[in-house]
Amino acid sequence: MTVTARAMGEVIDRIDGPDKVRGVARYAFEQPLDHPAYLYPVQSTIARGRIIGIDCRSASSTPGVLMVLNQYNAPRTNIPAGQGELNILQSDRVAFRNQFVAGVIAETSEIARHAASLVRLEYQEEPHDVELHGDRDDFWVPSAASAQFPMELDKGDVDAVLTSAPVRLDRVYTTARQYHNPLEPHTTAALWSEDGLTLYVSTQGVSGIRDVVTALFGLDPGRVRVVSSNVGGAFGSKVHANPDVVLTLLAARMVPNRPVKFALTRQQMFSQAGYRPPTVQRLQIGAERDGRIMAFSHSSTSATSKLVEYAEHCTRPTATIYAAPNLRTRQLVTSLDVPTPCIMRAPGDCPGMFAIECAMDELAVECGIDPIELRIRNEPEIHPASGLPFSSRNLIGCLQEGAQRFDWEHRDPKPRARNELGWLVGTGVAASTYHALQQSGSMATIRADPDGRYTVLIAAADMGTGTWTALTQVAADALGVPVGSVDLRIGDTAYPNASSAGGSSGIASWGAVICEAAGQLRDRLGRGGSIPRQGLEVTARMPENRYASQYALHSFGAQFAEVRVNAETGEVRVPRLLGVFAAGRIVNPKTARSQLLGGMTMGLSMALHEEGVLDPRFGHVVNQDLATYHVSSNADVGDVEVHCLDEDDPYVNPMGTKGVGELGIVGTAAAIANAVYHATGVRIRDLPITLDKLV
Ligand code: MOS
Repeated sequence: MTVTARAMGEVIDRIDGPDKVRGVARYAFEQPLDHPAYLYPVQSTIARGRIIGIDCRSASSTPGVLMVLNQYNAPRTNIPAGQGELNILQSDRVAFRNQFVAGVIAETSEIARHAASLVRLEYQEEPHDVELHGDRDDFWVPSAASAQFPMELDKGDVDAVLTSAPVRLDRVYTTARQYHNPLEPHTTAALWSEDGLTLYVSTQGVSGIRDVVTALFGLDPGRVRVVSSNVGGAFGSKVHANPDVVLTLLAARMVPNRPVKFALTRQQMFSQAGYRPPTVQRLQIGAERDGRIMAFSHSSTSATSKLVEYAEHCTRPTATIYAAPNLRTRQLVTSLDVPTPCIMRAPGDCPGMFAIECAMDELAVECGIDPIELRIRNEPEIHPASGLPFSSRNLIGCLQEGAQRFDWEHRDPKPRARNELGWLVGTGVAASTYHALQQSGSMATIRADPDGRYTVLIAAADMGTGTWTALTQVAADALGVPVGSVDLRIGDTAYPNASSAGGSSGIASWGAVICEAAGQLRDRLGRGGSIPRQGLEVTARMPENRYASQYALHSFGAQFAEVRVNAETGEVRVPRLLGVFAAGRIVNPKTARSQLLGGMTMGLSMALHEEGVLDPRFGHVVNQDLATYHVSSNADVGDVEVHCLDEDDPYVNPMGTKGVGELGIVGTAAAIANAVYHATGVRIRDLPITLDKLV
């Protein structure tokens, strides 16, 4: 079934907007629960070793303290395979600095916090290893379990061509450790009673949290309810259950019938909520003098923890972006005594495209070709790795539209050509791509009432992105009714099971199952379409997309940046960013624009600011707050423009959408780095581009 757009394509203000503006939208921590207790963690002060003693006496005797949880008295849990970071208070091992090693439950969060500071731990410390260098020799190919796609590509004879090609490039690019930093921290409230477990949590997917929780505690899924009504940002950090959820559950287990609340502090977010690991990437390109790529080799190494093998799959876009008869990718990991990294906005593709698109700019310079023309010359006719046709691919359209809007034609390609009162001015371009993902397994229920109202139930999530609104538009079109007739309910395991809000797959996945349910409902209602007096309800399972094996499904974009670099101080400013995207049908131009703007702003932040600085002596990130870990804010952002091309793709899903949550961040950092080169003649291959690298 393909859905015709009526509501889709309309600008509709957020359904959840008024409540958020009025401050009455409830987040997990704000659930009005009766007489809650509060939790505060104790964190390890060593990066590796064993706990050999714990003294809880003064903490336990503090008035208002209900209990001090530790490895000796905590309930036992089953740790799901591959989720070692959830191994909380189950052993004496310390795997990274700031790991949870105890927790205090008290009448107020202030008492809990104070008492936590009184818990004394004795450790047997072991030497730790926390730094990622390009020259380490303990890298390995990640297991299939952590690889969500083939990490190794080998096409043709890359080495032979790399040694004989007329133009050769061999470069190393590095990206920094970056933190999601959603505005709302990770928060949980749990109530464990005879009726079962109720969990309020800030998450990208209630069904996934329920599955982990039932596995951890061996519970019947029917006795666990997970609710996540509003979420204040996530960026990937809330896609899985994190240690704070487990600690809250351990606590709630110990104080039955009493709700327990826990919110991470901003500092704790830097050790408990995942992060984008640092990467070291090597790009080797062999090309003809006219810029056509003959061989392309991309290897990437990222760091993970000793607990979980997480691979930052930087080489994924390499398989998609340019035609190369000889193509090779290598993806490696190494494990360190650090917290576990996780997916962060366009995981893999974002740092990967930073390296690829900087290398393309370097190749353009080597060949003396305009960087847009270079990309056009390397446009593949079919997907370079799979050989499948693209369901739609408008990278060239994005580049050309952007060139026109950005006045690329009048650009003098010579570096360091513009000096305006002591500011060196330059412009740069980079391509963007992300896969158009649809996750399987979601279900949805639609109920039609005789008054013409429709209730759509699905355990989907809105992380603050506008999904609630856009998905309502999808449902309205699928039902053929006005948006105002649809009441969409999400964020609760009381509704049918749904995939998580990850990989920009939300609208594609939940929308497809809603379309399926709507189609079945309309069939049942028949021609006349009148709803029976008792109403009518249909529950559908998401159909597989039969085109997914016949076409390569990807979105594309072109990023343009103008930078000004102070010739004396090296300070970089970005007065202008333009992103042109081809992401299928845009369901709601307002919320989609916000997503793409936000992605580009986060890309600017990655280019110029964000870097978790690790102290190798102690093994923790020292700039663990928003004062010292700077995230781009209003004063950093100049004029940011987003433009979406019309794209009609009948193969991706019934709505024709490709997802916009992650595409916007991909390529922005490269466009800025390329503009910095154009402005200054200095090529920075190491993010972030701080002024010390330019003077
Ligand atoms: Mo996104 S990093 O898949 O939440």
